Amino acid sequence: MPAVVVLGAQWGDEGKGKATDLLATTDPIDFVVRTSGGHNAGHTIVVNGEKFATHLLPSGILTPGATSVIANGVVVSPEALFRELDGLIERGVEVADLVVSANAHVIASYHSVIDKVTERFLGKNQIGTTGRGIGPAYSDKVGRIGIRVADLFDEGILREKLEAALDVRNHLLTKIYNRRAIEVDTVLEELLSYTDRLRPMVADTSLLLNNALDEGRTVLFEGAQATMLDVDHGTYPFVTSSNPVAGGVCVGSGVGPTRIDRVIGVIKAYTTRVGSGPFPTELFDEDGLELQRIGGEIGVSTGRTRRCGWYDAVVARYAARVNGLTEFFLTKLDVLDSWERIPVCVAYEVDGKRVEEMPMTQTEFHHATPIYEYFEGWKTDISGCRTFEDLPANAQTYVRALESISGAKIWGVGVGPGREQTIVVNG
Ligand code: GDP
Ligand code: IMO
Ligand code: MG
Repeated sequence: MPAVVVLGAQWGDEGKGKATDLLATTDPIDFVVRTSGGHNAGHTIVVNGEKFATHLLPSGILTPGATSVIANGVVVSPEALFRELDGLIERGVEVADLVVSANAHVIASYHSVIDKVTERFLGKNQIGTTGRGIGPAYSDKVGRIGIRVADLFDEGILREKLEAALDVRNHLLTKIYNRRAIEVDTVLEELLSYTDRLRPMVADTSLLLNNALDEGRTVLFEGAQATMLDVDHGTYPFVTSSNPVAGGVCVGSGVGPTRIDRVIGVIKAYTTRVGSGPFPTELFDEDGLELQRIGGEIGVSTGRTRRCGWYDAVVARYAARVNGLTEFFLTKLDVLDSWERIPVCVAYEVDGKRVEEMPMTQTEFHHATPIYEYFEGWKTDISGCRTFEDLPANAQTYVRALESISGAKIWGVGVGPGREQTIVVNG
């Protein structure tokens, strides 16, 4: 399996970290690559009962022998990068090799300042961002006033680019948001303090990855965020500012679509969302609180509780379509162990009509209410199951039913956070 994409099929936190780690340790993987987002991600990996969280670093940083790559589509905060690396080193982790794209854009402290003041300014319309400066850094990239990793190694160019960027950003900060202007010298000093440590890690990662694929080596692209948070395909404007869909992997890495062999959508056996925005199957009752409690649905990056609801097959089918999924990895089936009856949203009702596909407009999506089908629960602890046949009959029925209505086969099922708590269904 030379080039495999792992991505989120819902609103994030589906278990992409676990899926990536599992693939990277069951088959020998040469490269684990992040292609979008930044340290807004929070990916949990549980190895021998010990829990690790990665944010900007690919999960492959924990896999000996694999090289971790932060490709051009990622927005890189050097401060967050080294804080995360040092945190792992302090815990005694033997961190894998790390390569950072020269073309990746940089998040400096002013981006997170702008992120936070923008949210405050939006008031009740706020997105509920992670406050990490992701949106402002991508805005600068598209607005052609961004700073790239390569710029950090030429002080003259860096100063010129910072002057241009801060000229624009300081107008916004002082005249609209009534804040103090940010000094070029302060940011220059902040960024230059990382250059010596960063320089040996920087390379042309598109060349590196394409050469690796030419040599038959294996590359795993670890998605961050998710399909429904995609700036083009998600629930805009309640989205992140990048393209976490499969197409974004090609743009974000400089690896062409013809080289991708598998696209795995990670999906929970129910649904969660952090931050604002529409969520048709969201629960506001005891069941929602139970999913949150049993599923441990607390954000890895921001510590916010996640909104919880039932499985939404309309979202699943949409993710299968816009990503061209070859398969799903269904996680957290064990969280449903105690329910008598499990609802699954198979379609929506929108303004009195049954709708099988994602509604076209945001207003229609806001009006969507779920149409449920109900499945018998299994009322058994499945966390020790290791084969599909080990699962109780009702759990097998649930998995097969999801598969038949979600638009791609289910390759694996998660029955607990541990690497080994996985069932390979079609392997
Ligand atoms: P990511 O952002 O997609 O990598 O997901 P997160 O790490 O933010 O959130 C997923 C959470 O679910 C983490 O706490 C994982 O340890 C946990 N997890 C992943 N797979 C399973 C599973 O199959 N069962 C259970 N109970 N927990 C899981
Ligand atoms: P992983 O990779 C869940 C959400 C934020 C907010 C919106 C925009 O762990 O699945 P941003 O800071 O990106 O501008 O915030 O996107 N969000 C996530 N939600 N999991 C994530 O990452 C997320 N990354 C961003 O909560 O609603
Ligand atoms: Mg997460």
